[in-house]
Amino acid sequence: MKMTIQDILALKGRRKITMLTAYDYPLASLIDQAGIDVILVGDSLANVVLGLESTTQVGMSEMLHHAKAVRRAVKNALVVGDMPYEAYQLNIPQAVDNARRFIEEAKCDAIKLEWFDKCLEVTEEIIKAKIPVMGHIGLTPQTADKLGGFKVQGKDAETAKKLITQAQRLEDLGCFSIVLECVPDRLAEIITKKIKIPTIGIGAGSFCDGQVLVIHDLLGLFERFKPKFVKQYINLSPLIKKAIEEYKTEVISGKFPAKEHSFTIKGEELEKLKS
Ligand code: KIV
Repeated sequence: MKMTIQDILALKGRRKITMLTAYDYPLASLIDQAGIDVILVGDSLANVVLGLESTTQVGMSEMLHHAKAVRRAVKNALVVGDMPYEAYQLNIPQAVDNARRFIEEAKCDAIKLEWFDKCLEVTEEIIKAKIPVMGHIGLTPQTADKLGGFKVQGKDAETAKKLITQAQRLEDLGCFSIVLECVPDRLAEIITKKIKIPTIGIGAGSFCDGQVLVIHDLLGLFERFKPKFVKQYINLSPLIKKAIEEYKTEVISGKFPAKEHSFTIKGEELEKLKS
């Protein structure tokens, strides 16, 4: 059964919500078959798929391209499109149009956007347009330079209080959930208790209503760096490299393709062809 926003809201306090990122058809299909509740087409696409340094380097066209592929694969999970930086932080009037493109063109169920100085105005307009919004506070990678880099946020009472207020404002505006990225676990616990919508943690400890990971981190498919909060459930990179090396050896030696990988032509046809 297809997950709805109402289903996600109803999970708070009943069971933990599971969320993973996906960017393409095959992995989205496997994640969906495994019964994950929410699939985020994250702007982490920039790092883990496109080999870029920063998430600010992807735009709407790349995000929509991948969101469409994910959506084709998914039968049950709620699909959330991640608004890239240029889609809402540079030109606020365009933010609603871009949010609508995720819903209408890519058939996503909701969008996510990161906290920034005009976040409340933009979120309010998108929700007014009847587009479900997932908030994202704490470490917001698109504007990490303004937060002192890729650091845990809310470690002192003053900044922690700001994060609590941000979460409450986003709830008041009608967001259906909020990602808490890289905040102390006890702060995540306070936020989770204070708001009625689910919190989804990444580097935010075990008290959140749900958890999200980047699928390439979980599978060991991203070798450039591994944040402390990542649990690698399998390390696929060496397995994939080994398979590719075996293929190379077998092609060079002539072991592949074997008879069973080849097509045949009837002997008489071959004779006709040769004569
Ligand atoms: O783009 C992404 O992968 C994200 C998650 C880290 C929440 O925003």
